Formats: sequence, C-alpha cells, structure tokens
Amino acid sequence: EFPVVCIDGPSGAGKGTAAVMVAQALGYHLLDSGALYRVVAIAAEKRGVSPTDEAAVADIANTMRLDFAVGGADEPVQVLLEGENITHEVRLESTGAKASVVAPLKAVRAALLDYQRHFVKAPGLVADGRDMGTVVFPESPYKIFLTASAEERADRRFKQLKNKGVNVSLAAVLEDIRIRDDRDMNRATAPLKAADDALTIDSTSLSIKEVVDSIVAFVRS
Ligand code: CDP
Repeated sequence: EFPVVCIDGPSGAGKGTAAVMVAQALGYHLLDSGALYRVVAIAAEKRGVSPTDEAAVADIANTMRLDFAVGGADEPVQVLLEGENITHEVRLESTGAKASVVAPLKAVRAALLDYQRHFVKAPGLVADGRDMGTVVFPESPYKIFLTASAEERADRRFKQLKNKGVNVSLAAVLEDIRIRDDRDMNRATAPLKAADDALTIDSTSLSIKEVVDSIVAFVRS
C-alpha cells in the first residue's frame, strides 16, 4: 500500500549511500537489509554456532533481539544486539564476508522475510540489498538494479577503507569483491540478479548525485 523503492546490486555498487540519499530526498524510511545478515553472522559467532549449521543459525535469526537506534554524528544509526552496541563490528569489511556465508541458508532467509516486510510504513520505504525486488518486495513497481564494473567497485571500496585508516591493497579488495560476487550470484536461494522489471543503472562512470537523481526521477515519473 505504501511505496517501496528497491535498490539491489553487488557489493560496492554504492547501494548504501544511494539508498540513504534517496530516502532523504523522498522523506521515506530506510531498510539496510545487508545489516540483518551481518548481525546474524555476528550473533552466530558470539554464540559459537557454526555459520553453516542452518537450523542453529536460523534459530538465532528468529530469536535475536535486534534494535536500530538513532546515534550521533559518527554513528548515525546504531545497531544493538541484545542491547549491546555492535555498530562498529557490523560495518567491518570482514563482517560483510561472514554475512555472505550465512546468507545462502534458506531457513535464515525465511526467518528474515517477515521482519523485513514490517519496515514498510507511511509514507514509504527505500530498501537496499540483493533480493529486495526479486523476493522481499516483488510487487513493488520501483525496482533498481545498481551495478558497476568490479574494478570500479573495488576502487571505491579501497578508497573508503583507506579513509577509515584500514591498511589493505587494491588487489586484495578486488579479490574480495570477486569472491563475494561469486557467492552472491551463484547461490541457490535468492541469487543476486536484476528483477525482470528492474531499471538497471550502471554507475561505473556516474557520480553518486547522478545515480540518486535518476532514481528519484524514476520514482516520481
Ligand atoms: O555493502 P556490501 O554490499 O558490502 O554489504 P551488504 O549489502 O551489507 O551485504 C553483505 C552480504 O549479505 C552480501 O554479500 C550478501 O551475501 C548478503 N545479503 C543478502 O544475501 N541479501 C540481502 N538482501 C542483503 C545482503
């Protein structure tokens, strides 16, 4: 009933940044679905559960107490797991890789399905991830598939990490992106792909503003 703007795509395409800016422009709520998979991976590790033990990880996804709170300038959105602030850990590059290990588990995705749909509220929602348009909100008329070349995505991620003071090589970041693409695109459950009716935006040579403007124009058209 309320509009949902779905922004799906591979790691480093700029979905997160674009989603925040589109939500601001439209005055909509925001769902960072990747954060949910990240939190599940962290919770499993904290409880000593193997990331491939489907039933045990799904049980965690079904029972964990997760809250998003408004934070300060350095942490605009805080992630609280069982009341503990795990925002820093959620954002680590290594956590993204761990998330892609629990993400193929069917029972885990099923556990998060309803949870994600509850984020739809007036006046609307912007949701970013891998399967927003294909699985979670297939009815939405606003589906964006945001992509860019692997080299460009690695370059952006590399610059981001350098700004944070993380010491990595561009080659290692590119290798990481390739591994994650492969895992996300070739899994059996909800593989990363554009929905049939998605608008594909290749951001390789676009600025973030150009990306945001085209998404906002698409929603308003
Ligand atoms: O920002 P980045 O793309 O690196 O990470 P993310 O969007 O937080 O997603 C982390 C991982 O969670 C992805 O590599 C996917 O394996 C998984 N994921 C998913 O399967 N479905 C979603 N809707 C969102 C994330």
